[in-house]
Amino acid sequence: MYSVKRFACLLVVFCTSSFSFFTPVHAVQHAPPPQLDTLFLGPKAESGDFLRELLQSIVAEQSAWRKGFHPEDPPVIKPQTLSAPEALATRSGLKQQLAALSARLQANSNPWFSPRYLGHMNSDLLLPAVAGYVSAMLYNQNNVVYEGGPATTEIELEVAEQLAGLLGYDPKTFWGNLTAGGSTANFQALWYARNLKSFPLAVKAVMPELVKGKSSHQLMNMPVQQALELLDRVKADKKYEAVLRQTVKGAGVNPSRLGKLLVPQSRHYSWDKAADVLGLGSRNIIAIPVDRNYRMDLAVLDRTIAGLARRKIPVLAVVSVLGTTEEGAVDEVHRVAELRRKYAERGVGFFYHIDAAYGGYLRSMFINPSGSFMTLDDARKIAVEKYGIPASCGWPDASVYEAFKAVPEADSVTIDPHKLGYIPYPAGAVLFKDKRILAVQTFHAAYVQDLRKKAPVSIGHYTLEGSKAGAAAVAAWTAHQVVPLNSDGYGSLLGRTIKSTALLYNRLTAMPPFKAANGKSYRIIPLVKPDTNILDYVVQELGNPSLAAMNSLNQRIYDRCSYVSGTMTEKEIVLSKTVFSPADYGDVPLDFIRKCGLADSEWKKTPSVLVLRTTMMNPFLADEETFNNYFTIMIDALKKAIDTVEK
Ligand SMILES: Cc1ncc(COP(=O)(O)O)c(C=O)c1O
Repeated sequence: MYSVKRFACLLVVFCTSSFSFFTPVHAVQHAPPPQLDTLFLGPKAESGDFLRELLQSIVAEQSAWRKGFHPEDPPVIKPQTLSAPEALATRSGLKQQLAALSARLQANSNPWFSPRYLGHMNSDLLLPAVAGYVSAMLYNQNNVVYEGGPATTEIELEVAEQLAGLLGYDPKTFWGNLTAGGSTANFQALWYARNLKSFPLAVKAVMPELVKGKSSHQLMNMPVQQALELLDRVKADKKYEAVLRQTVKGAGVNPSRLGKLLVPQSRHYSWDKAADVLGLGSRNIIAIPVDRNYRMDLAVLDRTIAGLARRKIPVLAVVSVLGTTEEGAVDEVHRVAELRRKYAERGVGFFYHIDAAYGGYLRSMFINPSGSFMTLDDARKIAVEKYGIPASCGWPDASVYEAFKAVPEADSVTIDPHKLGYIPYPAGAVLFKDKRILAVQTFHAAYVQDLRKKAPVSIGHYTLEGSKAGAAAVAAWTAHQVVPLNSDGYGSLLGRTIKSTALLYNRLTAMPPFKAANGKSYRIIPLVKPDTNILDYVVQELGNPSLAAMNSLNQRIYDRCSYVSGTMTEKEIVLSKTVFSPADYGDVPLDFIRKCGLADSEWKKTPSVLVLRTTMMNPFLADEETFNNYFTIMIDALKKAIDTVEK
């Protein structure tokens, strides 16, 4: 069987002597920091020759592997078959199709690689991830079961361990697996939380002696650690399956026994989908308002939990977001962890999940090459001296720093390699602090899974997904091998994006009003000082008193600077947008409405505000000359958009 080591040997051959990305983790950790510019194909395919070299080596290695598998077997397809006119015509047909495909893709695909692309959570991919993906894709292994991909299953487990290190989880006690994306990672976390919540009551039904003296209310409020200990005890007993049949897994969903799911208003909509799919129902979601920084309002969270406790309604789970989808805001994880401790002491236990689908990799900015988590003073020093973030930004603020520090307190975390990991789709991930939770559900299929005690782990036992690309795991693994998950690697890469966002924020706030061709003056107003690398703002005409008119102007700018009109290749810049309305955000946007010079009554009259959104993931914008160049392009594009739409 081809082990991980063998896989590494096969691929190390194509790496040049100065660039070997298949060396073991410990060797890479002590290597000098990677030169990040060389690890992207580049906006103008500057590293095209290098990628070609890698791809050629991948094909050579794949060929060698096939030839080396039972070399005594003769070739099966005859040379004359391949040179026959029909074969040549078929190949030429394929080439024509590829040319047509290429034309179609080039005409209307998102130019993620370009510094002009400022829209969604996308950028150029890390070359190690691309090379790893293409290489493993030719092996087409399936990580649903060990048998479907022995090497790639081991690699996926190694990726999970790398991510556990990044998040501060104990590598001996955590569990993690890759998922199709952040949505399914959130689904999986909520699935486990839901089943665990129903477990203590199920024990009472089947093995009451284990929970003697505890009321149903106490059992529905059992703190997670205690529930896991109970689960562990029951798992060893022959009544385990009978208990599971009394949980949600067997008995179905009874929302009144599971309680409420508390999420911030700023949550990703995958939480609403998950509550639907898992049978919780939207009525059992409580959306906690955000504060003026677009972080979950913890005073309201506290009051909400207290109110539920008074009414004897359990809390199924609380979710924080580390890097919100719309604003890049960082919820105060440390304070939620504190609240959780406070309520556990009062007999109110709940599961705590962090949706760090977007922001999880940013934790690398706080991890020293030795693996330790930095002090706040060091984090601020390194932000300025190593990442080049302007000192005037004071990044990270104490709350952002404490939030990242407290991540390991959560029971589970979603973190997506295919977002700030710069890895190709599909690569999300979910990690659980305590792997004993896996026992709340198990699904077996006799045709693929080996249930003997010593059989290697089959990831598909535990996941929502069935078949799963081994290539996605390899992509993440190669990227993490070359770009370490600390301040020398991903920290420096993401530090660039925080820097360019800070530069943009500073420039926009300092920018005087500008005149457009229509003779009117405009200014650009940022929503808030960003926690991460997403910045929202509006273009507002000086003296305009109408929110509806401001929305209409920004909508039309968006239409011009997005996929909505024309093709992507014609775009001067590409932006995204979002809309804040009372249904999602209450009156929080009022602060911003005032900042835009509008009366409060406008918010009543037009209860929604449309903001332009830029996600500054491009790693090259941190270079100040490049930044200045593209800042001018951006402002010119906005002026042109105003001129066009205001004609
Ligand atoms: C905070 C957050 N969670 C979850 C998701 C869902 O991720 P995916 O699109 O990979 O399913 C996103 C996507 O933007 C997100 O921003």
